[in-house]
Formats: sequence, structure tokens, C-alpha cells
Amino acid sequence: MTTPRKIRLGAILNGAGGNMAAWRHPDAPADASVNFPYYKHLALKAEEGKFDFLFVADGLFINEKSIPHFLNRFEPITVLSALAAVTSNIGLVGTLSTSYSEPFTVARQFGSIDQISGGRSGWNVVTSPLEGTALNFSKAEHPAHPVRYRIADEYLDVAKGLWDSWEEDAFTRNKETGEYFDPQKMHRLDHQGEFFSVQGPLNVGRSKQGQPVIFQAGASEDGKNFAAKVADAIFANAPTLEEAKLYYADVKRRVKEQGRSPEEVLIFPGIGAYIGSTEEEAERIYTESTQLVSISDALNYLGRFFEHHDFSQYPLDEPFPEIGELGKNSFRSMTDRIKEEAKEKGFTLREVALRVTTPRSPFTGTPEKVADLLQQWFEEGGADGFIVGGGVPGGFETFVEQVVPILQKRGLYREEYESDTLRGNLGVRVPENRYAKEREAEKIG
Ligand SMILES: Cc1cc2nc3c(=O)[nH]c(=O)nc-3n(C[C@H](O)[C@H](O)[C@H](O)COP(=O)(O)O)c2cc1C
Repeated sequence: MTTPRKIRLGAILNGAGGNMAAWRHPDAPADASVNFPYYKHLALKAEEGKFDFLFVADGLFINEKSIPHFLNRFEPITVLSALAAVTSNIGLVGTLSTSYSEPFTVARQFGSIDQISGGRSGWNVVTSPLEGTALNFSKAEHPAHPVRYRIADEYLDVAKGLWDSWEEDAFTRNKETGEYFDPQKMHRLDHQGEFFSVQGPLNVGRSKQGQPVIFQAGASEDGKNFAAKVADAIFANAPTLEEAKLYYADVKRRVKEQGRSPEEVLIFPGIGAYIGSTEEEAERIYTESTQLVSISDALNYLGRFFEHHDFSQYPLDEPFPEIGELGKNSFRSMTDRIKEEAKEKGFTLREVALRVTTPRSPFTGTPEKVADLLQQWFEEGGADGFIVGGGVPGGFETFVEQVVPILQKRGLYREEYESDTLRGNLGVRVPENRYAKEREAEKIG
């Protein structure tokens, strides 16, 4: 008998959450982005709600127009390591860029947090959208979009190779004989490629879940192909069920083309929920959150996706301006979508800026309505789970206390954790150590 498929949930830890003015909300800690007790409170709440994982996004370039949360926030692995010590089952997924780091360091960092947490770590692999990032990393230029994905592809080969440096039972630690490890079970990678040259082995052993879980976020053609090849899970941007279904079917097809089973890669649209005891109350909560954002904030927010382009130079109530290829080498999938939608629907600049900055979540309504929608997206091929964020301060607590129990009652969501590893809870494959597998194959052969 197969177990029925269940919804998986992640919780995004994003400072005060919601839109760029969320820190001004009367119930928000204004310093939420660097307030560890607040992060801890949300992490414990997520674990109380049996969430699969916490998720921390990141970026590596700011300027005076960046949104307040980006100006002063925790580095993902650091804050997740601290949260590992105060939680026991929930996964810890951090964003780290393959364009501005070295695979040995990063494989080691995620390998370490996987050990610290007893097999609960995950890496959200991103390629860094912003051109300015190069200025912070001694680089002459930001690599072009396709090159970033070529780097990422080789990078993942190296990281996964390094995580196989030690077989599961390599550390014998025999006090009698003095043998600390079995030399047959330590492996050098000896990787020589286009971008990286890494000998190995890695100086951290295999974790309880084998290897950290690989998440990916990036939705261009190159992004989707990369995810289909390397990811266990994907953080997706899907504003409507229709778009979610198209994206879901497209990515699952690509996963199959890679010779993998479509169930091996879980798709998580990010959602913001605005929950009220009545429809009207939910609408009011959403509307109030939008009123904190000024039009100049919204133009700055929009500008960031287009290399911090200054949109204040255009008339607000005329059609979205013609800006050519701007944004193509940055947040490509996002900027393509903004431009296409503006053209199709004839939006003005003001409309585009406000829609991007304070998007109206479909998950706005009573707890029952939100649960119905989650169920619909899950059952109709739009999602395997959701990464819950956005909303308003206090909204996450409401989600855990009022939406989760409805999903549990309907048998759509776990009552208890199945495992204490992230792979175990997500139900994704534990990668075999390649050398152990070879040895097994030789024995059989
Ligand atoms: C849903 C989603 C979430 C993302 N989160 C991050 C992030 O936290 N940090 C980051 O540097 N880039 C993030 N990105 C950007 C991608 O990593 C990538 O650099 C950029 O979008 C260009 O790739 P794409 O055109 O394939 O989407 C995200 C992209 C998407 C679609």
C-alpha cells in the first residue's frame, strides 16, 4: 500500500516579512531582520506546526535604494546554525550563490550544518541576479546569465563529489588499534574543470541524511533545466494557480527528460497568506499592509529587478515604459514576466510598481478558504508543497494555529514528524555514496 501524498510546508524567515514597509506595521519588531529572539520564536512556531523546513533567502549587493530588510540582515548559514541548536526536527534551508563563492568552502559549510543539526540542512542554490555583486567580490564583471548557470552546473558536480569524500562508516575511531579511519573509505575528488580545480577530500564526513538537500530558485529556461538536473526541491514564484500548473508540468517534464522520476523533485511555490476570521477582515488586513508602502518605495522596489533602474523619471499614469533589454542579465525570469504582463494588460507604471511591491495573494480569506486553496493547488498539479512567507506580522502564527489543523483534519498534512532528517520528512531520496555503490556493484558483478 502506498502512503497518500501529503502537503509539505516551509517557512520563510524574512525579517518583518511581507512587503518592503512591513517593518513599519504596528505589530512588527522594527529590527526583525537582525532580531534573533524573533527568528527563534518563528522557528519554534514552525516546528510546532510540523513544518518541513525553515527557509532563508539572501543577496550580496545593496545600495541606498535596497529594501530595508536587505540593508541589515543575518547571513543564512550563521542564523540557521544558531536555530539548529534550538530546534529538533525542522529542516534548515539557506540560500548561497554559486557565482560568488568556492565549492570547497560551501560544501564544508553545508556539510558542517548537516552534522550540527543531525541531517537537517538544505542549500538553496542561486546564481545571484545583481550586476553590482561583482563589485563586492573583486571581480571585473558579473558573469552573464548563461555563464552563471554553467558555473552552477560544474559547482554542483564538485560539491556533490566532495560530499562523497567519506563513506558512511569511514571513521572507525578504534581506540584499541589506533585506526581513526579506514583509508579505503576516504576518497579524493581530483576535479579539473572549466571553472574549478578541486582535489579534495572534504574535511567533514557524511551526515545522517547522506548529503544536504538541494533546493534551487531561478525560473528561466537555463534555471529550470539546471533544477531538473540537480535539485531535490524548487522554490518557485507562481502568482496564480494557472501559472503554477504550467510551471509544475514544465519542470516535471524536464525532470523526466533528465532520466529522473518526476516525484524526485518537489515544487514549492512561495505564498503569502492574509488570514481573517471573515473575508472582509482578511481583505482589510491585506489592504492595511499595502497602505504602508509609498509610490516612491514601490518604484525603488521595482527598480531593483532592473539593475536598480530609476523609474521615477517616467510619468506614473502612462503605459509601462519601453526599457529594452534592461534586467535580462539579472532577474531574467522575473523581469521577462513583468514586461510581458505590462504589455498584455496595458498596465501603467504606477500599476506595475504597486502590483510587484504589494502583490495581492490568492491566499487571502478565512482559514477554511486558505486551506481549500492549498488543497486545490496541491491536488490539481500546481504544487507539492508551499513556502509560507509574506503576509503580516502575526500572520504566520495564525497560519500555524488555524490553517494547519484544517489540513491535518483533512488528512493532507502530517500530525507528527516522520523523521528527524530533512530528507526523511520530505521523502526525498538519500544519495548513495558513489564509491560505496561502485564497490557494491563490483561485489555483485
Ligand atoms: C522564487 C525565486 C526566489 C529567488 N531567491 C533568490 C535569493 O534568495 N537570492 C538570490 O540571490 N537570488 C534569488 N533568486 C534569483 C535566482 O537565483 C537567479 O539569480 C535570477 O533569478 C536569475 O535566474 P532566472 O532568470 O533563472 O530566474 C530567486 C529566484 C526565484 C525565481
